[in-house]
Amino acid sequence: MRIFSGIQPTGRKHLGNYIGAIRQYVEGQERSAASGHDSLYCIVDLHAITVAYEPTELRERTYDTLAILVAAGLDPQRSILFRQADVQEHAELCWLLSSVTALGELNRMHQFRDKSLAQRELVSAGLLFYPVLQAADVLAYRAGEVPVGEDQREHLELMRDIARRFNARFGGEREILVVPEHRIPAVGARIMDLQDPTRKMSTTGGSEEGTVYVLDDAKTIEKKVKRAVTDSEDPPVIRRGPDKQGVTNLVDILAACTGREPDAVAAEFAQARGYGDLKAAVAEAVIAELTPVRERYADLRSDERALEEILGAGAARAREIARATLAEVRAAMGVGPAA
Ligand code: TRP
Repeated sequence: MRIFSGIQPTGRKHLGNYIGAIRQYVEGQERSAASGHDSLYCIVDLHAITVAYEPTELRERTYDTLAILVAAGLDPQRSILFRQADVQEHAELCWLLSSVTALGELNRMHQFRDKSLAQRELVSAGLLFYPVLQAADVLAYRAGEVPVGEDQREHLELMRDIARRFNARFGGEREILVVPEHRIPAVGARIMDLQDPTRKMSTTGGSEEGTVYVLDDAKTIEKKVKRAVTDSEDPPVIRRGPDKQGVTNLVDILAACTGREPDAVAAEFAQARGYGDLKAAVAEAVIAELTPVRERYADLRSDERALEEILGAGAARAREIARATLAEVRAAMGVGPAA
């Protein structure tokens, strides 16, 4: 199965992004390579311009993101790593798909509602169109599987609707576009803010103290984990549960970083004297997970020419696939000259 996912070149990537998304990409790369399929990971700069942004920073953030992806284990030889704007087929397909996208559906998207409320100056039409471009990203490659976080469920459903409607309207008996499946990770799909474990860890809505960044050094990670909010149960009890969100989050982080089941981790700590033991283990595991990434990042990020080469080579491979899809889409829609 061909895998496609997109990642925003904005914000500093944090532990939630790392566990919830980036590690799934690496896992997908191995799985698709083993079955002889492509995996594509796209840095979506065209999505980033739908909210207020700084043009001089966009390219920098794209390099940051690419360097993190490669440092985390994506291999430009085995995966196709590229920048969205380098493959113009995305923008063209977005427009073509608009003819089978219902305005009402775009208007109802939760992310559109939330983000448009957060805009201070202008709610751009691009923000409304964001999910159509996202559909084009995936459908251009006829990808079958899309690893995303829980927050993208609605966009994936819309993408599936668009593909089905396109096939019904223009495909006749043929499935010109593949209706993709989403893949939402079970463990670590929701890493919560260490200072407010009722909220997701996030660069926009979260607290600085409660957010562990992929590039944080060991000392900073240790400090943030040790100050994590737990609860005042006396004596302290280590178990997972909706009434124990802080502890649950720490257990889940430890499980994700050590490749174990959360319940097994909780059981192991059930006899612990306090939350300190758990926090020490979490800090150690997170540091062990992120330190090699941070070290490789420093090397990779310092060579922008090399990063551009990775993007250029990735775009060439991506374009080849997308071009073939677009030719069929145009032909089916009667757009442009006959093939
Ligand atoms: N909207 C996604 C996010 O914010 C990013 C994205 C853009 C994406 N295009 C995509 C994800 C295509 C999966 C597939 O996380």
